Amino acid sequence: MNILRNFSLKKYNTFGIDAKAARFVSVASIDDLRQLIGSSIYKSGKSLVLGCGSNILFRGDFNGLIISMDIKGMKMVEITDRHVILEVGAGEIWHDFVEACVKNKYYGLENLALIPGKVGAAPVQNIGAYGAEQDEFVYSVIGIDTASNEERELSKEECKFGYRESIFKNTLSGDFIITSVKYKLNKQETLNLSYKELEQEISKFVVVEPSAEALFNAVCRLRKRILCDPLNLGNAGSFFKNPEINEDTFESLKESFSDIPGYESGDRIKIPAAWLIEQTGWKGKRYGNAGVSARHALVLVNFGNATGQEIYDLSEQIIASVDDLFGIQLDREVNVVE
Ligand code: EPU
Repeated sequence: MNILRNFSLKKYNTFGIDAKAARFVSVASIDDLRQLIGSSIYKSGKSLVLGCGSNILFRGDFNGLIISMDIKGMKMVEITDRHVILEVGAGEIWHDFVEACVKNKYYGLENLALIPGKVGAAPVQNIGAYGAEQDEFVYSVIGIDTASNEERELSKEECKFGYRESIFKNTLSGDFIITSVKYKLNKQETLNLSYKELEQEISKFVVVEPSAEALFNAVCRLRKRILCDPLNLGNAGSFFKNPEINEDTFESLKESFSDIPGYESGDRIKIPAAWLIEQTGWKGKRYGNAGVSARHALVLVNFGNATGQEIYDLSEQIIASVDDLFGIQLDREVNVVE
């Protein structure tokens, strides 16, 4: 393993922030990872596992060890008439995995096409889009317990998945490094068309019964249209989570904001953060070298030379504006690294 020093992370985070890591190493096998965990370099300071860096904001330089997750591979571990269980390496690109599944006629993940990032990051924040979340298809998550340096397989229930939440972000944060994920996929096409915009998009092109491939293509078209490509304008997708409020608060907000959108989520109401931000006037606004996308109010962008601190400051301003206007506290979805 080659440990690099004072390494620029510009190409390792989709915001394109030029933060430096004191140390950087790429890990391509479980043996490499266990060797690293047993070493003094790992034990002597803080560390952070990075996939594509597509959900992360470096506020400044990282005075520790960045572990780039590059464990690849995909294998079938079980097949029946109705389903397959695939085990996929944490270092595989998520979208490539989704595309391979659709091509091989293993169904379920189509709605999650084009989400940036690597497979190992998917369970951490329980990625989701267009009416689906990855936990619906997780069978188990495999990784190394950093205290014992032993492999451990967590069942789906043990992962404690929620909306952009999991045990890996909470109790196990820093104590468990995901090396692969097992997904249980369907062999029959069962399409999830619950998301209104997606159903409208698919119906533009398909006159008869839509296929999983048509669904996959529709999701790709929608994402390309709405979300900015980090290669053109640095960003990390949704910067904030959609807040959940109770029904009474929702009803009283409706008195002042009659068109406020809200969707039931258990016994709470989920409000699109993008709508709240748009009402405050931040959509399309610039703040130094950072700004809010003109295409989608939930996406903060780097216009070229923004620092992590600048983007962070912008996010603080947005939180304050939304709080002032609606009395709602936004939470960041992006992982802010100090
Ligand atoms: N809206 C606005 N202004 C905007 C954009 C949206 O008012 O500029 C309102 C509209 O009312 C729209 C609603 O917000 O109907 C919801 O917007 P959208 O369908 O784009 O979804 P979202 O809730 O903003 C979530 C995920 C996205 C995911 C989309 C599509 C979160 C935090 N974000 O966004 O995930 O792609 O749904 O399913 O849950 C990500 O996590 O990085 C991400 C991109």
